Amino acid sequence: MGSSGIRWGFNIGNWKPSRNEWMLAARCVMQEEKDRIGRFVFTKDGKASMSGRLLIRKVIADQLKIPWNAIKLGRTERGKPYLANTKSYDYYGKPHAANTDSDYDYDAALFPNFNFNLSHSGSYAVLAAERDRNCGIDIMDVARPGSRDIPEFFRLMRRQFTPHEWETIKGAGSEWDQLEMFYRHWCLKESYVKATGTGLGVSLQRIEFHPKTMVLKQDVIIKDTELYFDGDLQSSWRFEETKLDEDHCVAVALNRDNQDEPPPHFKILSFTDLTSSAIPILPEDENFWTIFASKEEKPKRQQRDRTSYQQPSGY
Ligand code: COA
Ligand code: MG
Repeated sequence: MGSSGIRWGFNIGNWKPSRNEWMLAARCVMQEEKDRIGRFVFTKDGKASMSGRLLIRKVIADQLKIPWNAIKLGRTERGKPYLANTKSYDYYGKPHAANTDSDYDYDAALFPNFNFNLSHSGSYAVLAAERDRNCGIDIMDVARPGSRDIPEFFRLMRRQFTPHEWETIKGAGSEWDQLEMFYRHWCLKESYVKATGTGLGVSLQRIEFHPKTMVLKQDVIIKDTELYFDGDLQSSWRFEETKLDEDHCVAVALNRDNQDEPPPHFKILSFTDLTSSAIPILPEDENFWTIFASKEEKPKRQQRDRTSYQQPSGY
């Protein structure tokens, strides 16, 4: 991957799994993951979760050459997935898990700081991975439906952003431009708390973004947005921002810059790409397909409409 890292996307919206595809995917994750995926009421959520697990395994198998079926994944207390069968460290330098040295089956000495992160929203699941930096990624579908008007929506979200950030958001232009700027800030904040792994354990008022390039464009990656933490410029942090398509903005947070490296572009993977390194772990399960095939894609009322929107999940 060079030192510039991996950026992958998978289009969940376009993926209408065939029986063979869904059965193969279900064999290529761990039992707990499969159980979790099976519990989603709507197939769009099951597909998002499934493609996320496949993205993570693929990046580890391809980059660290650990066989797919030998990969052990853990989650930190706050939920950030990490590779559990090599010795690896969190953002604060603390080793992951309570394993003793002899429990590590694979030597990741070459890449002890290998780090990956996942996000899904709207039509996409995305993954960022880095060999020697911490990373966090967040994607937002900027055109999701809802019922409230934009000023009312912003009032509800007041505490998530600082006065400076609200100035930037409200100064962005039309209501639609403001909404896009809002989601951009959302992605930036999430990508940062996901890179450090704290999730929402840190006050969002302490994290303030100052975008320099005001309009995000598809196929253009900008990395000039600045982060202030408790009022201090964090010059070692880099944020790569782009739009995957008209409706999806994405931010990748990196705890160190790679001055001479151009930021990597997103590569959109097919299902075949996603499973190209896969080695099945579980036996075939026809029932898993039958249940999947009987579910609805999403709730009926979720229609795309640029004049309305929905608050991001987790709020
Ligand atoms: N750090 C890094 N990554 C984490 C994480 C953590 N503490 N906890 C979970 N993740 C990873 C997981 O891989 C998860 O997917 P999985 O459960 O399928 O494995 C993935 O991040 C979820 O990311 P995303 O799809 O972007 O979901 P989210 O944006 O709803 O949630 C959280 C991200 C869980 C890390 C957390 O920040 C949260 O709950 N956010 C709620 C939204 C909010 O209020 N944001 C305010 C921003 S202005
Ligand atoms: Mg998110």
